Amino acid sequence: MFTKYFFSGILLLLAVFMLWSATPLIAQENPQGQQPAPEKSLYERLGGVYAIATVVGAFIEKLLVNDILNANPRIKEARDRVPKAGLKYRVTELVCQVTGGPEKYTGRSMKDAHAHLYITEKEWQAMAADFKKILDEFKVPAKEQGELIAIVESTRPDIVIGTAKK
Ligand code: HEM
Repeated sequence: MFTKYFFSGILLLLAVFMLWSATPLIAQENPQGQQPAPEKSLYERLGGVYAIATVVGAFIEKLLVNDILNANPRIKEARDRVPKAGLKYRVTELVCQVTGGPEKYTGRSMKDAHAHLYITEKEWQAMAADFKKILDEFKVPAKEQGELIAIVESTRPDIVIGTAKK
């Protein structure tokens, strides 16, 4: 009698233990609803290529009339020579690519595209101020602004070389 209850007890304990240890496996196999949805790419949160092209277009228009930038004769010369529609197109491609969109950037590296302009820290600051104004104008949310500004900042060492004779 005692032996019968003893073995039944052991079996019950074993069953409870097996069920308990299998729970995480079951949870792993069926993660639906347990993981938070993956965050959308910056590209998607900005509204995709049309929204990005609109903001880039407005940004470049603003830069073209920035007196601090135009005081640099190399920048001024490049601006008079390079069609602004092409510049808008290339910058849009680049922003789309680096924010996670399907577009592919086809232009030069940031170093190669800007080396001949000898861009200074002061000129960089003037560009960054215009960029912030445009992001505010288009009501880009603070989080997305932060991510975009960080992307632009990451190109600074390749673009700001300054100091050469103008
Ligand atoms: C003070 C800052 C900047 C100034 C004054 C500036 C000015 C210019 C000018 C004048 C050109 C045409 C150069 C030429 O073809 O001779 C150019 C090209 C370009 N810039 Fe900038 N730029 C600045 C910062 C940036 C930043 C921060 C980015 C992107 C993160 C950028 C992206 C580009 C791209 C994609 C091109 C076209 C390259 C190509 O077509 O191969 N620029 N920039």
